[in-house]
Amino acid sequence: MLSPPDNWFLQAPLDPLHLDWLTRAGIEVAVLRLDQIDPLISGNKWFKLIEHLKTADRLGAEGIISLGGAHSNHLHALAAAGKRFGFATVGLLRGHPQQTPTVKDLQAFGMQLHWLGYAGYRARHEAGFWQPWQTRYPRLHPVPEGGGGLPGALGCMQLRATVCAQLPGLGWSDHDGWWLACGTGTTLAGLVLAEAGDHPVYGALAVPDDHGVAQMVERIVQEAGVVNARYELIDASRGGFAKVDPLLLDFIEKTEQAGSIPLEPLYTGKALMALKQQVEAGKFARGTRLIFVHTGGLQGRRGFDSQA
Ligand SMILES: Cc1ncc(COP(=O)(O)O)c(C=O)c1O
Repeated sequence: MLSPPDNWFLQAPLDPLHLDWLTRAGIEVAVLRLDQIDPLISGNKWFKLIEHLKTADRLGAEGIISLGGAHSNHLHALAAAGKRFGFATVGLLRGHPQQTPTVKDLQAFGMQLHWLGYAGYRARHEAGFWQPWQTRYPRLHPVPEGGGGLPGALGCMQLRATVCAQLPGLGWSDHDGWWLACGTGTTLAGLVLAEAGDHPVYGALAVPDDHGVAQMVERIVQEAGVVNARYELIDASRGGFAKVDPLLLDFIEKTEQAGSIPLEPLYTGKALMALKQQVEAGKFARGTRLIFVHTGGLQGRRGFDSQA
């Protein structure tokens, strides 16, 4: 079995966020702390894996093979899940061998690694890419980069129920929308499916426009057959994926101190900073209540810190 045992219970707290720019604008924000669901299997990655693991179980697979970079949050969560629940994992890595903190963890969790170089990794969308790997690992189930696509989104749908169950604890009868970072758009798409038009979902793009997030969300929404999809994508990439600037780092430091919330610069930091800009530009009326999804990724911060 690749799926976790029934008694593996995930708890993602919903915490109020108190920051002066929110107070000034009369906006309330609660943070869904996916970074706190487990010490190792952190963030939205777990939810994006759930349906892939169920499919692997159905097909009688013994493990999972997937792809990512040397700081990949997805491979990190996958390798940790493999170790925790006792299934085999293989990671196909972008670039050439390097020992980042993430890579050291992957090895410690028992993931078998193969480095594809850059050109080899770029071929991942080509027809026939998986064929030699499936010949080599016939008992492993392939999962696309980042656990993306409809199966990933289906696993994220349950986040809505997790939040709804906790709203009374905050004294909220309802909320007015979601705000979260987007890399592939899969997590956002899951929320769009779950909401089916009830509340809008705002996606802060951690990647530039040409990364195909809009197309991915559109494809998932169509495949799922949802007609009333309410979402908006907002550029938050600050010049490119993984591009970091002093203003962003300053924002993260001040927010961590004031709001007691850990952030990293690639996704959650950029997403919250983009929310601040939109709030200050008057996008939301006073009294608006938003759910900010903390999508995790804090493990990747170690690699960044050591480069800085
Ligand atoms: C920490 C973190 N937040 C957000 C995302 C974006 O999620 P998605 O690819 O589902 O848009 C990712 C991965 O891509 C991530 O690692």
